[in-house]
Amino acid sequence: MIVGVLKEARAGESRVAATPATIEQIRKLGYDVVVDPGAGGAAGFTDSAYEAAGASIGDAAAADVVLAVNAPSPSQLDRVRPEATVIALFAPAFDPGMVEELGRRPFTALSMDAVPRISRAQSMDVLSSMANIAGYRAVIEAAHEFGRFFTGQVTAAGKVPPAKVLVAGAGVAGLAAIGASGSLGAIVRATDPRPEVADQVRSLGGEYLSIESPEVEVSKTGYAKEMGDDYKAREAELYAAQCRDVDIVITTALIPGRPAPTLITAEMVASMKPGSVIVDMAAANGGNVVGTVKGEKVVTANGVTIIGYTDLAGRLPAQASQLYGTNLVNLLKLMTPAKDGTLVLDWDDPVQRSITVVRAGESAWPPPPVQVSAAPAAAPAKAAEPPKPAKTPMTPKQRFGGVALGALALFLLAAFAPAALLPHVTVFVLAIVIGYYVIGHVHHALHTPLMSVTNAISGIIVVGALLQIGHSSTAVTVLSVVAILLASINIFGGFAVTRRMLAMFNRS
Ligand code: NAI
Repeated sequence: MIVGVLKEARAGESRVAATPATIEQIRKLGYDVVVDPGAGGAAGFTDSAYEAAGASIGDAAAADVVLAVNAPSPSQLDRVRPEATVIALFAPAFDPGMVEELGRRPFTALSMDAVPRISRAQSMDVLSSMANIAGYRAVIEAAHEFGRFFTGQVTAAGKVPPAKVLVAGAGVAGLAAIGASGSLGAIVRATDPRPEVADQVRSLGGEYLSIESPEVEVSKTGYAKEMGDDYKAREAELYAAQCRDVDIVITTALIPGRPAPTLITAEMVASMKPGSVIVDMAAANGGNVVGTVKGEKVVTANGVTIIGYTDLAGRLPAQASQLYGTNLVNLLKLMTPAKDGTLVLDWDDPVQRSITVVRAGESAWPPPPVQVSAAPAAAPAKAAEPPKPAKTPMTPKQRFGGVALGALALFLLAAFAPAALLPHVTVFVLAIVIGYYVIGHVHHALHTPLMSVTNAISGIIVVGALLQIGHSSTAVTVLSVVAILLASINIFGGFAVTRRMLAMFNRS
């Protein structure tokens, strides 16, 4: 089969569905590739680079499998053959007109933005690839508008404080923005109603600002739900306080199937310092910020720049094309099981079913829902264990009996044992008592250093026992051998345990 790479019809689109690198991978699957003239020009890929990768330049719409970023124009669709498959971002969930338009055509249409967010489809998840790039680019746009460094500096000309960045929503785009802001040296804070993202925020060097509300719970789907009034009131307080403090705000909040929630009000924008920058990544879905103009940059009366660009991923066209192209290659790999250049649509595969808008002229939209679970499955309820018998404390009678027994043993020892043994026994008994209380109260976190100390003590025991081993008394020699044996178990056991622990951190 021939795979065609369309020149994008949408005005201002700089991305392309394949790069020379991804074309080589498509050819390895057994396909021939034809690219529209000038298809990759805006992303920096020349026709000769495509030819060098093994593609030919020609009419891509006439191919068997047609690849595009956005939905092709009606005139491009008119040239698609009836038995062909067109793969692009058709946005069927948001554009019922497009679903109707495709339904009138005889071919098969697959929409890359409908790939379900499940683990095995991650390599085809275009929305995540694009959100990742867009989150990074949002920081670059903010840095471009911001009149100061992101990183703090101490220079001969004076001290520069680091910029403070607030990221609202720690999904794919938000996490990319946190990483990019942190690597530029800013102090980064982030909030999200899904508490499970706290560790991800921290792992990227950000501070997670939690909103204490009974409504907050771990998401079962990986997406946030619509929050109630209590959460919204507390969230508004947090945003109001943060807007007075931070220099940059990047909003990425999204609840699937709903217009973007409004997080930053006009009053909050008015409270920000002049020169501050807001990037509202949700501008295309209605915006998270009051005052955002979709696709535009505006400056408020108090000098705050609000960026509402909706093409942030396209502003890194070579990178976006490479990742989008790789997502397409991964889909083609899935749909070309024999690697023989023949595309096969497996209707029983939930990923392929989910992205099918039209199959051979018949509408297949909407697809059945796919179970998406980001939270770990709940552990099966354990059978009720019988309660452990509580440790009963000693009665005063028992305690008195124990002390009396110990005193009697000491008395007998003092009366009958050789005088030289008494100081040794006293030291021994004291060592047991002190050791019991000291070691018993060492915090768990300090058990490893404690193990090193006991290893050192064992070393001293071994040296002492070695000096005694040639003693004239057989009993002393036997005791020395036993002491060496026991101390050696401690030393070598310690080494073995340490080795196993270190191996757990070994990458290989
Ligand atoms: P995502 O679904 O991975 O993340 C959205 C996050 O928002 C989730 O973590 C969710 O828990 C959080 N959220 C929901 N309600 C919130 C609230 N009230 N406060 C704080 N956080 C809240 O989505 P993804 O892929 O990260 O995309 C984020 C946004 O960026 C979307 O609106 C998407 O359309 C947009 N986007 C914009 C681009 C552009 O060029 N402007 C390009 C790519 C994505």
